[in-house]
Amino acid sequence: GKYRVISTKSMPGTRWINLLIQNDCRLEICTEKKTILSVEDIIALIGAKCDGVIGQLTEDWGEELFSALSRAGGKAFSNMAVGYNNVNVDAANKYGVAVGNTPGVLTETTAELAASLSLAAARRIVEADEFMRAGLYDGWLPHLFVGNLLKGQTVGVIGAGRIGSAYARMMVEGFKMNLIYFDLYQSTRLEKFVTGMFLPSPISYGAFLKASGETPVTWKRASSMDEVLQEADIISLHPVLDKTTYHLVNKERLAKMKKEAILINCSRGPVIDEAALVEHLKENPLFRVGLDVFEDEPYMKPGLADLKNAIVVPHIASASKWTREGMATLAALNVLGKIKGYPVWFDANRVEPFLNENAQPPA
Ligand code: GLV
Ligand code: GLV
Repeated sequence: GKYRVISTKSMPGTRWINLLIQNDCRLEICTEKKTILSVEDIIALIGAKCDGVIGQLTEDWGEELFSALSRAGGKAFSNMAVGYNNVNVDAANKYGVAVGNTPGVLTETTAELAASLSLAAARRIVEADEFMRAGLYDGWLPHLFVGNLLKGQTVGVIGAGRIGSAYARMMVEGFKMNLIYFDLYQSTRLEKFVTGMFLPSPISYGAFLKASGETPVTWKRASSMDEVLQEADIISLHPVLDKTTYHLVNKERLAKMKKEAILINCSRGPVIDEAALVEHLKENPLFRVGLDVFEDEPYMKPGLADLKNAIVVPHIASASKWTREGMATLAALNVLGKIKGYPVWFDANRVEPFLNENAQPPA
């Protein structure tokens, strides 16, 4: 191989490996056992010559790594993730390194986990499982693990991009929930999903429900986030993490939610003030959360793990075989494409193949 490409982790599938090695790359996959590589670890991996790196969301891709990669002649970095809050894109630009991410292939998988957490929280599935395993079940009772019926309730979606829109579609279509969403921008994607459901020809979904004796579902775009907090029974967070969404859900906003609401987060941990959430959960035992992400991963804020009204899973929203193989393939394509000087690969499902494709090397 002419080009030296490093993957900081082993990734699922073999297609991404074949892509690289069949296209003039010598691929080195880091076998270091520790889960999270430090900046120093990665600088050592990059060494004196490296053309591109596939990295992970646990790594801090900032000034130090991009300057090291640039010094080694590297032109491309891809995160194996759609989120890129671990990547300093300005630093990458400064050192002439193009940055890629892996959107599109994880949309449905991530939305399905948000839906799974919604159901698990509404029906208290984890608590009930623990109860069974603890040998506490001694017979059916009318009050045992009573939860919430989703049908007819309102689902709130905050951040209506690809993932938020797919989640909205699942909850509305699958569970006949009413929908309220908040996004700074009107989401044609989400509105296409819902109007597609409500107004297909020859008969609208609403009319279909009415004709079958069902109450039609309603939907609207909220004019403020508070409107969603106040009206929704389940709220799922799907914004990107940046300065404007850090602690988007704080103590004051939690207080605006219904006492028996359910909050789901499959975006990034710092979108919620997790310490404030722990206090809120303690004070409101009927309030429930489903969390895939945490403010200081891999840690949880003190007290969270003891709460029955919290479901916690270890950042697995994109963890389906198809998706993870797809993410690995896209990450490899990002790096390979840039190295080979191809125009940026693009298809309709993939709107941001490179975040900064016009990056120029420093003069
Ligand atoms: C996972 O969290 C991702 O951003 O892909
Ligand atoms: C990420 O894929 C999003 O825009 O929701």
